[in-house]
Amino acid sequence: MEIRYRPEELTRLPRSVRYEPGRVIMIDQTLLPREFKEIELRTVDEVAEAIITMKVRGAPAIGAAVAFGLAIYADTTKAKTKDEFMEGFERAYERLKNTRPTAVNLFWALNRVKGLVEEHLEDPLDEIKRLIVAEAQKIADEDVEANLRMGHYGADVLPEGNVLTHCNAGSLATVQLGTVGAVLRVMHRDGTLKLLWVDETRPVLQGARLSAWEYHYDGIPLKLISDNMAGFVMQQGKVDAIIVGADRIVANGDFANKIGTYSLAVLAKEHRIPFFTVAPLSTIDMSLKSGKEIPIEERKPEEVLTCGGCKIAPDVDVYNPAFDVTPHKYLTGIITDRGVVWPPFERNLKKLFKKE
Ligand code: MRU
Repeated sequence: MEIRYRPEELTRLPRSVRYEPGRVIMIDQTLLPREFKEIELRTVDEVAEAIITMKVRGAPAIGAAVAFGLAIYADTTKAKTKDEFMEGFERAYERLKNTRPTAVNLFWALNRVKGLVEEHLEDPLDEIKRLIVAEAQKIADEDVEANLRMGHYGADVLPEGNVLTHCNAGSLATVQLGTVGAVLRVMHRDGTLKLLWVDETRPVLQGARLSAWEYHYDGIPLKLISDNMAGFVMQQGKVDAIIVGADRIVANGDFANKIGTYSLAVLAKEHRIPFFTVAPLSTIDMSLKSGKEIPIEERKPEEVLTCGGCKIAPDVDVYNPAFDVTPHKYLTGIITDRGVVWPPFERNLKKLFKKE
């Protein structure tokens, strides 16, 4: 695979989450598409709340946000001794850990920073603080590089034509470019993406509010459809490939992604449409054997009972799983930052991690 474009040739969007000493700056995704606004967060609690309320969302963006949350702690703590510092660090770690359960990047990023701290416990306190901030920054920088690689790997294997995507796995869902977003952007530059179909993605509308906004912003030709139109569009022969993100891919290739992904996968099989997921290695959880073990977040009923702040249903009981699990048998391939993984996924994912 040859890297043909740098990030600045693929998007006009800034990083969706970044760090300056003592503060995290992020695009408030709850305001889009009405308003593009960056907000500043100065405490661990504010970062945790921003994740819970989905001001920042998308697996890799959440990973970077929690790492920066720990950086805020390191840069602002008043702890004088190492013991005091470590007590506060554990509290910050726990607070950030208990925000959203499904995207494994959150736990991966927290554990990566924590592991580094544990390796350097004998170092002077100021050095430990410096290491935390540097590691968080590295996690964010590596995310952009990983997306760039996935973008090129993906564009090399996707067929030319119309692509359908679900939810938002674009620049906003990562530090920059996106996972799916990078593939679409490279295809667009290559001239192989004719049209992007964007599912609106009820109940939180990440497709309509975020994907339609960011891809339109970068000049990618798209059509927005409501979720229940996807099957008909496939039946009409208007979709050549489907690509979606992932919140957690497990050892056998099953993966969790935004609710509605599974239905698309089944429809894709019926219509013989290639169906890919795109995710960096930080989204792959080799500790779980099958998708049945992935914890699925359930969110509040209001998300289903309302739309754009308006009540659309009576106060009845609601079931609101935020994600579903797609069995690996529906997957054509997994596009990662180390290359494309083809079936049999269990064997080939294992091989991918052995290469590390
Ligand atoms: O609930 P969200 O908006 O955080 O869900 C996001 C998704 O399901 C994305 O597809 C996934 O995180 C991949 S983002 C590159």
